[in-house]
Amino acid sequence: MSCTWRPLALFLLSAAFLAAAPPAPHWLSAGEALYREGRLPTGKALPGSLKGDRTVQGMAMTCASCHMASGLGSSEGGSNEGGVRVPPIHGPALFQPRYLALPRLQGADREKLGLKAPPLRPAYTDASLARALRSGIDPAGREFNEGMPRYALTDRHMALLIRYLRALSATPPPGVDGKTIRFATVIGSEVRAADREAMLKPLQSFLAFNNDMPRTFGHRMFRSPAGRNLIEDHRTYTLEPWVLSGPPATWRRQLETRYRKAPVFALLGGISYGSWQPIHDFCEARRLPCILPITDLPVVSDQSWYTLYFSRGLRQEGEAAARFLASGPAAATGSQVVQVVQGATGRAPR
Ligand code: HEC
Repeated sequence: MSCTWRPLALFLLSAAFLAAAPPAPHWLSAGEALYREGRLPTGKALPGSLKGDRTVQGMAMTCASCHMASGLGSSEGGSNEGGVRVPPIHGPALFQPRYLALPRLQGADREKLGLKAPPLRPAYTDASLARALRSGIDPAGREFNEGMPRYALTDRHMALLIRYLRALSATPPPGVDGKTIRFATVIGSEVRAADREAMLKPLQSFLAFNNDMPRTFGHRMFRSPAGRNLIEDHRTYTLEPWVLSGPPATWRRQLETRYRKAPVFALLGGISYGSWQPIHDFCEARRLPCILPITDLPVVSDQSWYTLYFSRGLRQEGEAAARFLASGPAAATGSQVVQVVQGATGRAPR
């Protein structure tokens, strides 16, 4: 992006940045508040304890902080390199047997391949899942390692949580079907053609590289049922440039119209010279991830989930300048600091 003039902006860090975790947003259902916020319907923190009776409550123990908001789990440090493996716990994964090898293949597909190894555990039922969450013992009788806390939930709260887990990631999210993942990239109305191309080209090359993968892997993936373990993960990516028009006050409406017409799974990249606020707000409202947009004016907030920025943009520069001035010779001598502000971009980060 060719941003020709970067104003020097000084401002004080708002006390709001340092405030405690905000209350659960209104859209969280009771089960979701339990899962994502570690908050019971009574408003109290989720009562959890680690093996060895160390009690930890609230945010540090939310299911989402380890198993991720999607329930897909994670593999911090790599499961083969001694890292911690946090298993998937969304509905489809919990309520079917879990296998070590080729875990996607179930029932007849496993028989066809002659896979004889028994599952690590059978499918959970509501009762065995409740027992596992309280006692740390899975339905095969295995005790969880100490990475997984134990939760002393009442029957009512347990039922809420389990209902939520059953539905979690049980259907494909908007913009995804068996063959395709649809993405869009947002381009502000004021963006010059050269900057637009510079943002689009690498994205399009990356998507083309991904879409070529089945050819690179050859037909091996399709030949045996085992290949389904991979092929079911492979979907073609499509990218639609959402070029906005007119003033930023109208962008939110334009984004809504495009999304309603054909929803996308996420926004990739994107570029605007002005504030990212209208796009940020749209993504929060739609729960739509927006990955690494190019903007000098990101929305700096500890209450937002869905947009991942490269940096805090001009605010970050302003803070660095403020810190420098506060500790430099100007502060020691009490000299006056004059701030020159030019245009909307200069005023915005104050
Ligand atoms: C501090 C990280 C952490 C938190 C918080 C956490 N888990 Fe886990 N969880 C793990 C790890 C690690 C395992 C794997 C344990 C093992 O296999 O020995 C696990 C395993 C599980 C399993 C067993 C999955 C299977 O296939 O048998 C379930 C179910 C589960 N967690 C549900 C939850 C729920 C629900 C919450 C929130 C109420 C939660 N976890 C919070 C780390 C965590």
